[in-house]
Amino acid sequence: MTALGSFHGRTMATISATGQEKVRQGFAPLLEGFRYVPYDDLEAMEAAVSERTVAILVEQIQGEGGVNVPRPGYLKGLRALCDRKGLLLILDEIQVGMGRTGKLFAYEHEGITPDIITLAKALGGGIPIGAMLARAEVAESLNLGSHGSTFGGNAIACAAGTAVVNTLLHGGVLENCRAMGEYFLSRLDALKKKFPFIKDVRGKGLILGAELDREGAAIVDTCLKEGLLINCTVGKVLRFIPPLIVTKAEIDEGLAIVEKVLESQ
Ligand SMILES: Cc1ncc(COP(=O)(O)O)c(C=O)c1O
Repeated sequence: MTALGSFHGRTMATISATGQEKVRQGFAPLLEGFRYVPYDDLEAMEAAVSERTVAILVEQIQGEGGVNVPRPGYLKGLRALCDRKGLLLILDEIQVGMGRTGKLFAYEHEGITPDIITLAKALGGGIPIGAMLARAEVAESLNLGSHGSTFGGNAIACAAGTAVVNTLLHGGVLENCRAMGEYFLSRLDALKKKFPFIKDVRGKGLILGAELDREGAAIVDTCLKEGLLINCTVGKVLRFIPPLIVTKAEIDEGLAIVEKVLESQ
C-alpha cells in the first residue's frame, strides 16, 4: 500500500510504488501489487488493507507531492494499523531524512519506530549512496549474498556517508535546521499575508512549501534569472529546500528575491 501523491524514485519497483500517474506513465509493464490510497487519511488506509497486504510505504512529508505535511497522529495511526494487521511500516526518508526536518530522521518527530526506512540523497552529501535500514528481525530475511550490487557498500560512498552522519550529529546542523526552519516559515507566513494568491505555507525544518492559486513555473524561472534556485512541485507549490547550514542572512537574501518576483505577479 502506498499513498496517492507519493514519489518513491525511478527504479522499476519505486516507479511502480509511486502514487502519481504522471510518473508511472510510459514505463509499463510495472510491478504489480501496489495500491494507492489517499494520503493523510487513516480511514482510507484501513479500508484498503486486505488479507494480501504486506506493508504500508509512505513519506512522512510528501516532497514531490507538494510538501504535504500530514496531520499530527497520522504516522502513529499507521503504526497502530500495521501492528494490528501484522504489516510492515516502511518510511521513505530519502527526501526528509538526514536532518532535513531538524531531526536525523523525520519519523523521530512522531515517537514511533518504523520497520524499514530508506535513505539516499543527503546521506552521501553529494556522493551517490542509498541505504535501507530495517529492524533486526526484518533484516534477517536478507542473508549475506542474497541481495547486493557491484558498487553497493563501496568505500568512497560509505566514507562520505559516515562523514555526513558525524557532521549532522556533532556539528550543530540539526539545531540550525530547526531554528532556520522556524524563521523561514515565519517569513513565508508574512509573504502569505502580503500576497493573496499564496493559499498556504507549510513544512517542517528546512523543507518548506508555498501553495499558490496559479502555476509556479514562471516564478521559478524568474527566481533563477535573479540568482535563486527554487523549484515547483505539482504545478503550484513552490518548494524551498535550502542547505541545512543556511544562515538567517541567506534566507533574507533569498526571500527578498522571491518577494520581488511575486510582486511582479
Ligand atoms: C521521497 C523520495 N524517494 C525516493 C527518491 C529517489 O528518487 P530517484 O530514484 O530518482 O533517485 C526521491 C527523489 O526525489 C524522493 O523524493
